[in-house]
Amino acid sequence: MEEAELMAGCEIKSVYAGIAGGHIKGFNSQGVIAIKNREVCAEDVKRVIDAAKAIAIPMDREVIHILPQEFIIDDQDGIREPLGMSGVRLEAKVHIVTGAVASAQNIIKSCNRAGLDVADIVLEQLASSEAVLSADEKELGVALIDVGGGTTDIAIFVDGAIKHTSVLSLGGNHLTNDIAVGLRTPMAEAEKIKQKYGCCLASLVGKDETIEVPSVGGRKPRVLSRQLLAEILEPRVEEIFTLVNREIVKSGYEDMIASGVVITGGSTILEGMPELAEQVFNLPVRRGLPQRIGGLVDVVNSPAYATGVGLVVYGSKNVGVHEFPSAQSEESIFRKVSGRMKEWFSEFF
Ligand SMILES: Nc1ncnc2c1ncn2[C@@H]1O[C@H](COP(=O)(O)OP(=O)(O)OP(=O)(O)O)[C@@H](O)[C@H]1O
Ligand SMILES: [Mg+2]
Repeated sequence: MEEAELMAGCEIKSVYAGIAGGHIKGFNSQGVIAIKNREVCAEDVKRVIDAAKAIAIPMDREVIHILPQEFIIDDQDGIREPLGMSGVRLEAKVHIVTGAVASAQNIIKSCNRAGLDVADIVLEQLASSEAVLSADEKELGVALIDVGGGTTDIAIFVDGAIKHTSVLSLGGNHLTNDIAVGLRTPMAEAEKIKQKYGCCLASLVGKDETIEVPSVGGRKPRVLSRQLLAEILEPRVEEIFTLVNREIVKSGYEDMIASGVVITGGSTILEGMPELAEQVFNLPVRRGLPQRIGGLVDVVNSPAYATGVGLVVYGSKNVGVHEFPSAQSEESIFRKVSGRMKEWFSEFF
């Protein structure tokens, strides 16, 4: 944080924090209302979104985002900006993301203890999408897959709107663990080996490439073939992508992601990731690096920074609207944050 303050030349008081984890659930909902004066006004838009979010949510879950997809007026669908249009019946389709209250509270608590206020909590793949996806891709249809350490986050965009979100509890940490067990080496060494020599497609590795692997319990280091390392990584990465593919098929948007798949997150630095992903998804795949960020390009030019850069982009679009002082109890801050999240859609118009 000190480094960031130095580089940006300002004091950091509040942050946009990402949220992910197996507890995140995304689903689509819709609401219908009668248009009061035969012409859609801001009040109608607010009412129809209220109608769309009127669903039962368990006590231990909170709404994190309500993301409008499209509006339908009478029989005309695909409307993005309904204000001022004439009709009698207004329908809204939205994507709602919910998460465990406790998990959001822990994020806020951690930030507060580090002396920071939380300006907003943002779904991580939504943040990443701000940094790595182009408007054209979102329009044509794209699946964003953010393979991090503990989780793999999925977001599907079609017609410029988010249609599906989900989170798998699998990621790069599992790869490190597989290497530690498979090569009988300490976790810290396994992590180093993964980052330095890792490749998840055995066919890309030369037969005579070797790596030095430290042993546990004071035994001597061994020289092993790099092929062996790739053979450990390949099935696990394939498993992750296969589970992601299952999610995409389950979402029903499989045939609509015409521009293909964008993979991002620290684990996609691994050699062979796009190639293996193309085999599993049978779609064009590219690595997503943060874009459109001017002077910072050199510093953050890696898929590992997609979420971080995305949070900054998200924050810059929503800046100044909401700040939450840490003097209050964490509970009430969370209420406020989630209250603001619920409000967010109205600022959207
Ligand atoms: N050069 C590299 N090669 C392979 N894996 C790497 C490399 N650099 C980082 N990783 C892996 O990337 C993962 C971290 O990625 P990232 O920073 O995107 O995760 P995160 O966003 O912090 O975690 P999560 O998304 O699960 O909350 C770690 O598992 C790390 O081992
Ligand atoms: Mg991440």
